[in-house]
Amino acid sequence: MSQQASPDAVSSANFKPKGGIQDTLFQRRSIRRYRAETVPHELIEAVLEAAIWAPSAHNRQPWRFAVVETQAQKEQLAQAMGARLRRDLQADGLSPELIEADAGRSYSRITNAPVVIVLCLSMVDMDVYTDEKRSQNEYLMAVQSVAMAGQNILLAAHDVGLSACWMCAPLFCPDVVKDALNLHEDWQPQALLTMGYAAETREKTRKPLEASVTWR
Ligand SMILES: Cc1cc2nc3c(=O)[nH]c(=O)nc-3n(C[C@H](O)[C@H](O)[C@H](O)COP(=O)(O)O)c2cc1C
Repeated sequence: MSQQASPDAVSSANFKPKGGIQDTLFQRRSIRRYRAETVPHELIEAVLEAAIWAPSAHNRQPWRFAVVETQAQKEQLAQAMGARLRRDLQADGLSPELIEADAGRSYSRITNAPVVIVLCLSMVDMDVYTDEKRSQNEYLMAVQSVAMAGQNILLAAHDVGLSACWMCAPLFCPDVVKDALNLHEDWQPQALLTMGYAAETREKTRKPLEASVTWR
């Protein structure tokens, strides 16, 4: 029998972070608004260095990162993604007001972020199989590895005083992102991470631990 828990329930009420990695793990939050301050290039590199120390399937490191720093490039990317979003929402039958609100929100989030990192996946170094099942598993391992690199970025950013947020939008328009940034043929956009110095604070809860764990 599955146990249902409210997503708003507070998890681990007795847990007290102990500093170091515990603070990083528990205090990181997804931050969507940033101050206009520029992020030093070395800090971006430090965060990306942490990303490539993520574990990966067969240590093949299928992650690729497109760092978008210039305003012109951010605007071009946001416009291209916005055009696709509008088209998709029109096909869903949404009202023009809702479409504009959604597209406007997406545009602002990308263009107002000091740094945008497009997290990509490349299959070039992964194993190749002749059957569909193992090919799919190999692809999933690459996705899992890239996600781990993404998590390292979120944690490392927090650790150096930055904030970040994962946006899934590129998954819905990988071709558009690839074209806008003129990415290498084998780079498959998976996500977009905005990053900068926080201009907001956020609080989150988690379902209680027992909602997600089975002990055997
Ligand atoms: C795979 C994935 C996709 C996400 N996509 C989005 C997104 O498109 N837009 C957004 O604002 N946040 C997105 N998030 C952030 C989540 O909303 C956030 O992690 C969650 O609400 C928990 O909040 P916290 O990160 O502050 O703990 C995504 C997170 C993950 C892991």
